[in-house]
Amino acid sequence: MAGLAVLASGSGSNFEAIAGQLKKSAHKVVCLICDRKDAYAFTRAEKYGIPSYFVGYKNRTRGEAETEIASILTAHNTDLIALAGFMRLLTPELIDRFPGRIINIHPSLLPKYPGTHGIIESFESEDRELGITIHRVDYGLDTGPVIVQKSFTRGGNETLEQIEKKIHELEHQSYPAVLLDILDEI
Ligand code: GRF
Repeated sequence: MAGLAVLASGSGSNFEAIAGQLKKSAHKVVCLICDRKDAYAFTRAEKYGIPSYFVGYKNRTRGEAETEIASILTAHNTDLIALAGFMRLLTPELIDRFPGRIINIHPSLLPKYPGTHGIIESFESEDRELGITIHRVDYGLDTGPVIVQKSFTRGGNETLEQIEKKIHELEHQSYPAVLLDILDEI
């Protein structure tokens, strides 16, 4: 059994997909950490009985917030960390505590459209091939080594909502599977 911690900031639909799949596996989601008190991910964690923690970044340094994050991760014997819509960059100090063991998902075919507007920038582009990227986290913004990319070809007449739905479906299928493979190797 290996332990996965998930960091999220918002809805947590990826977190829930991961929680659902890991429940059927030998591995465990050991905790959820959110930097927003109102994150819907907390409601999902409750549903799965997963311990969840709010870690605020207001009026403190990123390093101070991460000291709290690190102590939660340690208390839960975390082997692997999945960022699932966590809207903050981690410091090199935290990344170096988990070498190669922090994974991120991004809703575009990186290196195209890094940052917070991956879906809309993909949608507004001329690209026919859209998709998602799962990668290891390094010090940059959505720059670490790619583990897998999944894509689809759009017809051209889809709405933004339809593209968004397709991207999230791909995320929910792929992210739990990739994380399970990595957990199996730990
Ligand atoms: C996903 O599109 C993910 O790729 C991006 O943030 C979004 C999070 O969605 N990093 P959710 O909170 O998992 O629903």
